[in-house]
Amino acid sequence: MSKPEYSILLLGGDGIGPEVTAEAAAVLDELSASPNARATFKFVPRAFGGCSIDENGVSVTDETLEQGKSCDAILMGAVGGPKWDGKRRGFEGPEGATLRLREVTDVYANIRPTEYFPQGKSPLREELVRGTKYIVLRENCGGAFYGPKVEEPDYASDLWSYKRSEIERIARMAATLALSPAVPVKKVISCDKANVLASSRIWRRIVEETITKEFPEVELVHQLADSATTLMMTKPSMFNGVIVADNTFGDILSDLAAVIPGTLGVLPSGCLADLPAPAWTPGLKPVKGFFEPVHGSAPDIAGQGIANPIGAILSAALMLRYSFGLFEEAKAIEDAVNLTLESGLRTKDMGGSSSTKELGSAIRENLKKLL
Ligand code: NAI
Ligand code: MG
Repeated sequence: MSKPEYSILLLGGDGIGPEVTAEAAAVLDELSASPNARATFKFVPRAFGGCSIDENGVSVTDETLEQGKSCDAILMGAVGGPKWDGKRRGFEGPEGATLRLREVTDVYANIRPTEYFPQGKSPLREELVRGTKYIVLRENCGGAFYGPKVEEPDYASDLWSYKRSEIERIARMAATLALSPAVPVKKVISCDKANVLASSRIWRRIVEETITKEFPEVELVHQLADSATTLMMTKPSMFNGVIVADNTFGDILSDLAAVIPGTLGVLPSGCLADLPAPAWTPGLKPVKGFFEPVHGSAPDIAGQGIANPIGAILSAALMLRYSFGLFEEAKAIEDAVNLTLESGLRTKDMGGSSSTKELGSAIRENLKKLL
C-alpha cells in the first residue's frame, strides 16, 4: 500500500510562533524524507492572529477556516502581542483566530502532557519531581466557560453545567489516553469538587460509571481539585497517568502542571475532536486535532532566534501519536529531544546558549539516527 500524505495547516502566528513552528515543520520534513517513513506530510501555511489582522484585516480568513476543516491536522504557534493589545478584544483580536478555529473543528479535549526533564530548571526539588510524567486532560467545550452569562453592574453569573454525553466522551478519552504506550501508568485521576458542586457530582458519577464499565483495566481515582493542587506540588509522581478535569479545574491544573519542567518552552499541547487514533495501520483515517506549544508569542524574545523550539517540536510528536496513530515516529521525536538535551545543548530559558535553529537541527540529526 502506498504511503498516505497528510495535509497539515501550518499557522505560525505571532512573535516567536513562526520561529518555533518552522523547527517543528522541519522535523516532520525529516520524517517524510526517511526511507522508513510510514507517512509523509505536506504543509499549507497561512497567516493567523495578529499578523493576519495586519495582512488581511481579520485575525483569520474564511479561506483559512475552510483549510482548517479540510486538512488532516493543524500545527500552530501562539498569537497576540503588545502591537495588537487593547485595540481589539475577544473575537476581534488576535486570539479570536484560535476561538473561531476551535468552533469550526469542535475540539472538545485539550491534552497537556508534562514531565520532569533532568536538564531543565524545575523549581521543585529533584528528589520530589524525578520520574514525574503525566497528562492533564481538560474538557474544552462545556462548563462555566460556555454556559449562559448574566453581566450587570452589581450582579454577574456564569452557568457551570455538564450533561451526561459531554462527561462520557471526555471520560472515554481519559481512559484511552491512559492505555496509550506513551503514558507510563494505566491510571486516571479525576478532579472535581463533588463535595460542593452539583456539576461535579454528576461529573464524578458518570466518570465512575464510564471508566469502570468500559475500561476495567484502568485504575480510577477521584481527587478534590483543591487538594489536588497541593499534592501536585508535594507528591507530583502520584499523578503519573492522566488527570481529567472539567473546563475550569482543567484550566487551573494544567497551568500548575507546567511548573514541573521549569520552563514553558518545552511543553506541548493538543486538542482533539474525537478519540485518539489507535496505533497506525495502513489506511488509518486521521483524527482531526490541533497542536501548539503551551507558551505564548513571547514578544520579549521574538526575532532574536533564541526561543526554545522543543514545545513546538513535541507538539508535532503529539500530532503524530494522537491524530495519525504514528506512535513509533512520535516516540522517536521525543527520544531525539532527550538525546539532544543530554548532549548538553539547550536554549537560554534552560540555562544554555544554543539558538532556536541550532537546537532544531541537532534534534533532526538525532532523529535521523533513530529512524
Ligand atoms: P509567554 O508564554 O509568551 O511568555 C512568558 C515568558 O516565557 C516570557 O518571558 C517568554 O520569553 C518565555 N517563553 C515563552 N515561550 C518561550 C520559549 N519557547 N522559549 C523561551 N522562552 C519562552 O506569555 P505572555 O508573556 O504572558 O504572553 C505574550 C503574548 O502571548 C500575549 O499577547 C498573550 O496573549 C499571548 N499568548 C498566546 C497564547 C496562544 O496563542 N496560545 C498562549 C499564551 C499567551
Ligand atoms: Mg489558562
